[in-house]
Amino acid sequence: MNVLVIGGGGREHALVWALRRAPSVQTLYAAPGNPGIAQSAECVPLKATDMDGLAAFAADHRVDLTIVGPEAPLAAGLVDRFTALGLRAFGPSRAAAEIETSKAFAKALMKTTGIPTADYQSFTSPDEATAYVRRHGAPVVVKADGLAAGKGVVVCRQVDDAIRTIQQMMVEQVFGAAGTRIVVEDYLAGEEASVLALTDGETVIPLIPSQDHKQVFDGDRGPNTGGMGAYAPVPVVDERCLDEIMARILVPAVRAMAAQGRPYRGVLYAGLMLTADGPKVIEFNCRFGDPETQVIVPLLKNDLADIAVAVCEGDLSRVSLDWHSSAAVCVVLASGGYPGKYETSKPISGLDRLAGLDDVIVFHADTALKDGQVVTDGGRVVGVTALGRDIRAAISRAYEAVDQVAFEGKYFRRDIGQKALARVS
Ligand code: AMP
Ligand code: GLY
Repeated sequence: MNVLVIGGGGREHALVWALRRAPSVQTLYAAPGNPGIAQSAECVPLKATDMDGLAAFAADHRVDLTIVGPEAPLAAGLVDRFTALGLRAFGPSRAAAEIETSKAFAKALMKTTGIPTADYQSFTSPDEATAYVRRHGAPVVVKADGLAAGKGVVVCRQVDDAIRTIQQMMVEQVFGAAGTRIVVEDYLAGEEASVLALTDGETVIPLIPSQDHKQVFDGDRGPNTGGMGAYAPVPVVDERCLDEIMARILVPAVRAMAAQGRPYRGVLYAGLMLTADGPKVIEFNCRFGDPETQVIVPLLKNDLADIAVAVCEGDLSRVSLDWHSSAAVCVVLASGGYPGKYETSKPISGLDRLAGLDDVIVFHADTALKDGQVVTDGGRVVGVTALGRDIRAAISRAYEAVDQVAFEGKYFRRDIGQKALARVS
């Protein structure tokens, strides 16, 4: 079949990498793609949010399956549009994507369904939010109720920090309109994990659990980023824990969405805190995670296009997933200064030395081609994923490979996967 992947980051490169290996895929397109994706797919210069352009392209090129990477086109109703035109698209409808795009909607859904999550209050007035925080005390978590590229969340250890954050989000609008409404949430203590599940609205099948590293500095310090690295599988999410996550969180969420007349199809991402009282939801996302996808798909044996078709057709019950027994670790190489200010257009060297290896894959996230040279083009530049027989082997292989790639200002965390090592040794 002909497949189109929408997006142009590390997640989409990982999806394209898997689809290139899928026996059912003939022609592979990506819009807009990136220089890494261009090695495996034909890149089409259309923005991920150009719905008219994308729909016309899919119809003209007989695209049998479109897989949507980022949340923005899902939030804008791309899947609704494609479906109305008789085009097959993997991802939730606009109404179902609200599970990510409106924290207030997601929280209300969890409350009415009994899905464990932190208690919260939602505010549109900075004065009321400030008064609440003074009464409630710290620690608390202040979140912008809208899309802010994974960065609209601030964990506040002190009441003063929370008040300053409310001021920045609601009055100074540092995250733009996303700060018009905020959520103030109780702080959850524990280890985080990402459990993504495929669902056709009825059948729910978990993908291999993974763990992201959100903060920019080693030891989980500093501001949140889109994710500085990931690994899978996650020792702390053992079989019993995964069963609990399915039974108490993912299956009830899918059932509740169907009952509300917003059937959820696609991949549902549960960002979890594994607390002393069991797993609790930090957030739902309506899409594959990034960088999580960069460690999940290299471990998947199935034909990814075939699975995506089963999801779109409401036929997921025929699928059973097969995983490699190895471990995967992804280290994100970022531009120095990210998630704050950073420079771009720095030439990247060493990528050719890693090309063609069996156990290392470099996924391009924010790269561009300039006069035939691959250069940096954003905050998270590339993800270096390595496979190993166990997590220890995968970590050391990943860091060997990281040393091969160079660009001015290259920054990465040196402790990706350490939480897993602490549990297995
Ligand atoms: P989110 O964008 O909602 O996933 O939040 C980003 C990050 O902030 C999470 O991955 C956690 O590290 C942290 N976080 C969010 N909500 C909470 C919470 N209620 N308690 C503790 N940490 C949180
Ligand atoms: N890794 C976090 C996310 O994809 O939202």
